[in-house]
Amino acid sequence: RLATEGEITGKACECVPCLAPAGIAAKQLLVVGLGKREELDPGVIYRAAAAAAKALAARKRAAVAFLADGSWSTRQLEHAVAGAAVGMVGQDIYRKDKKRTPFGTTIWLAAPADAVERGTHLGDGINLTRRLVNLAPDDMYPQAFADEASAVAGHLGIDIEVWDETRLAKERCGALLAVSRGSSRPPRLVIMRYRGPGRREGSPELALVGKGVTFDSGGLSLKPADSMMGMKCDMAGAATMLGTIATIAALKLPVDVVAAMGLVENMTGPAAYKVGDVLTARNGLTIEVHNTDAEGRLVLADVLDVVRGLEPGRIIDAATLTGACMVALGHDVAGLFSNNQASCDQLVAAAKTAGEPVWQMPMFRHYDPQIESDVADIKNVGDGRWGGAITAAKFLERFVGTTPWTHIDIAGPAFADKPKPWSDGGGTGVMVRSLVELVRGSPEETT
Ligand code: BES
Ligand code: MN
Ligand code: ZN
Repeated sequence: RLATEGEITGKACECVPCLAPAGIAAKQLLVVGLGKREELDPGVIYRAAAAAAKALAARKRAAVAFLADGSWSTRQLEHAVAGAAVGMVGQDIYRKDKKRTPFGTTIWLAAPADAVERGTHLGDGINLTRRLVNLAPDDMYPQAFADEASAVAGHLGIDIEVWDETRLAKERCGALLAVSRGSSRPPRLVIMRYRGPGRREGSPELALVGKGVTFDSGGLSLKPADSMMGMKCDMAGAATMLGTIATIAALKLPVDVVAAMGLVENMTGPAAYKVGDVLTARNGLTIEVHNTDAEGRLVLADVLDVVRGLEPGRIIDAATLTGACMVALGHDVAGLFSNNQASCDQLVAAAKTAGEPVWQMPMFRHYDPQIESDVADIKNVGDGRWGGAITAAKFLERFVGTTPWTHIDIAGPAFADKPKPWSDGGGTGVMVRSLVELVRGSPEETT
């Protein structure tokens, strides 16, 4: 009747409440739109479930039961369960009057218990990433991130190593250390290693690397006030990799994965690194600093070299690296850059399966001269702003050797300035679902 009365259009994320529905024990029924059948993918499902949970979490509820379309695969159900877990959590960390109250109990009707469990682990991983991004920068500094990572590692039985500034100096991480010098907060490098069932020997098949700039003031090349707002999100790459390895461990996936997160605060203190400085990165390359606000690539340079030394099968990094990537692709799409087409294609396929939009950008050799320096091996910016997302990726390429590597620039989608029907805005946890999907392999292979 709601449909014939025109109350329901079926548009994706449309929520139509129905109080005291006849013949149903629940006090309220919420009908959630899923859009056109041919456009349905786990992304639509995830967002629709999140939209429903967000609407219902506007007040306290003891129990909410979800009933999914009976035709969904278990993989689709998992994304729905994750979406619901994410939708009921807002940006309430520092508010007395919470906008969202997570449900007392969530029930999934007619869904296999193991799919619900897996979806819940995925939702937890995404919410972990979101919470770390949403914490205020003075609460989420390098050591604070390392503490969170240690707690996660402890719960899930993941090996963890935290390098402090002494160890970083011993390891000759000159680029990362330079960025951190303007801050009163010392830097950290967090290295986590998860070995799944049956994976005890050899090198990791996958290395995840995250940019963890817990606040990016720009350093001495100071950002204008308006651009500095929101720069607590500059550790989203690190938070994404922590959320991803946590989910992989919670799911007990049969893989061997290392995650390395470079954590610094980019500030302007008296010891701050300067424009004109020449840094020596861990791999021996010298870097002339042309702009202290191009700090993410300096941090990643050393972290990439550390994981390259572990001889992983491939490397994937995530970073809120460039405003230029947002100019190119907008707020919702992540940019991909790679030295290995097959490995990039696999990530594109996983993102498509998960319903997270990504777009591959070119890495033509003719960009290389742009990072040549007059005094050092390379410089940390291109010539002018044009193609800035690509010249940043070209810089990173110099630190991965011949290891297949894909860089994900999440400057656009990592943080939402405005609320969406399925989210209150803030940290999004983008790419956690795609990366977990990549590690799990296609549903056909694993069932
Ligand atoms: N963290 C920023 C990039 C960023 C911008 C992330 C907007 C999220 C939203 C990065 O460190 C940065 O400042 N990049 C500069 C590079 C430039 C100086 C070559 C940029 O994009 O302007
Ligand atoms: Mn910057
Ligand atoms: Zn930055």
